[in-house]
Amino acid sequence: MKTVFILFISLFISLPAHSVPFEGSKILISCQSPYAVEAGKQIAAKGGNVVDVAIAVALTEAVTSPYFASIGGGGFAMVKMDKDLKVLDFRETAPSATNPKFYLDKPSKSSQNGGMAVGVPGIPAGLWALHKKYGKLHWSQLFKTPILLATKGFQVSGEWTKRTQKTQNRFNAAGKKYFFKKKGKLYKPGETLKQKQLARVLKEMRNRNIVSFYNGVVARDIVKSVKDAGGVMTAKDLKNYKVRWLSPLTTEFKGYTVHLMPPPSSGGVVLASALKLTEKLKLDKFKPLSHEELHHIAEILSRSFRGRALLGDPDFHKNPIKFLLSDKYLTKMAKSIDDDETEKLDPLLTKSLPKESNETTHISVLDKDGNAVSMTITLNGNYGSGVVTNRYGIALNNEMDDFTTLPGKPNMFGLIQGEGNHVQPGKRPLSSMSPTLVEKNGKVILAIGSPGGPKIISSVFQGLYRILVSNFELDRALQAPRVHHQYLPHKLFVEKNFMPSRYVMKELEDYDHIIEVQDWWSRLYAVKLRSDGILEAAFDSRGEGAVGGL
Ligand code: DON
Repeated sequence: MKTVFILFISLFISLPAHSVPFEGSKILISCQSPYAVEAGKQIAAKGGNVVDVAIAVALTEAVTSPYFASIGGGGFAMVKMDKDLKVLDFRETAPSATNPKFYLDKPSKSSQNGGMAVGVPGIPAGLWALHKKYGKLHWSQLFKTPILLATKGFQVSGEWTKRTQKTQNRFNAAGKKYFFKKKGKLYKPGETLKQKQLARVLKEMRNRNIVSFYNGVVARDIVKSVKDAGGVMTAKDLKNYKVRWLSPLTTEFKGYTVHLMPPPSSGGVVLASALKLTEKLKLDKFKPLSHEELHHIAEILSRSFRGRALLGDPDFHKNPIKFLLSDKYLTKMAKSIDDDETEKLDPLLTKSLPKESNETTHISVLDKDGNAVSMTITLNGNYGSGVVTNRYGIALNNEMDDFTTLPGKPNMFGLIQGEGNHVQPGKRPLSSMSPTLVEKNGKVILAIGSPGGPKIISSVFQGLYRILVSNFELDRALQAPRVHHQYLPHKLFVEKNFMPSRYVMKELEDYDHIIEVQDWWSRLYAVKLRSDGILEAAFDSRGEGAVGGL
């Protein structure tokens, strides 16, 4: 055991801060934490399949990266196992005491901070459902490394320190107790953090699957902590939580079959629209990363995001997907794009439709046979709501902010949302998370995804486009500059540290784009199966990341 632990530490210290593309022949992982890659490798070496590996990676990241990956959040997973391709929705749900007007008379930012921001968490139920359907190894084997790291401690990263400091003033008392040294002193990068309280939760999960989390000691801790922080979640809400199996939204693109995330994510609809528009406009006639190409990408994104406000949880709302992806509507959208000038279209109103019958992380795992997991998990904001459970130290999400909490007002990602996304008990908020798998001749050749709110969608779109159409090598495709447009506000966002060239920037201004430079972006994690049968993994140097495997 000791040797394993020392190996972890030396591996972590020796890792460079920039991206390292990696090749393998059996199974590869791309995710955020080097500890998690090592945990996943050990599971693969024991004969674990892609799902076993992905679960071990997610549990490890819950220990090493609680700001993104605590088990108090939710997510989506797309899995291809043998011939079966399915999507698992384990997103958080609204507590039963909420309603569409819930936030109207509450103090400002109640959907972002404190107990009222917390949705019923789905990650433990999601991981358990994945294991029951596809797992090969025994459930308890997946907990060995996460429990070891929680008990003996792990060395915090620069990103851990930065994100923990950023949340310092939003944490409740338990957050201050579990994530800081005495007298509120911050752990510095490389210092060891032990989380014995979290190890107890992981042991409960190892021994009794998810019983304690949804209907036992952990559930009681969650309900009490949310209540202490002013929230309304009840024991019944936790007990009633259910995951949902869905079919992917699938589209053909340039000879590939692209499987996208359906509602309650907006990702699949917006991405399918964007991919179809690139074909209609023959985007590949432009040089990659030229001002002509980036202008058209921005306009394509703006038109594809235009329909987002019409979407919501499919159990509560009829999503006009057929209309948004119809040839008629997309031809109209393609025609509205001017080669020389940006143009803002009027919002799409539900009435005008024809009737028809700051945190997240991503894990990509792919093996040589094309079995794959693309899984995005989130707490929404950095450490979610800032509420950490009193007894077990679980950081809880603030996913309620992804609902239309205050109609007409932007949420924390500047998204103005629609009626289909009103708060309702048991409902899931609309998401942008876009775990994606790409097949060629029936075999998965790419697993890709990203954190980053609405920028997830524009990043996955440009990642797919650079890999499948621009033919960039995987690593270059991930590091390339990206632009973002989300319809509202009518702005073209570029990223401070990954700008297009100065010449391109100057030319982009001539299209009358209102350009905003931001220093916050998304991060792609991808594994590709090359045509020579070699697996290749890379991560985005925009943030923490690690790749590895066998
Ligand atoms: O589901 C969503 O779209 C958001 N809750 C995701 C938040 C996110 O990606 C923040 N990450 N950096």
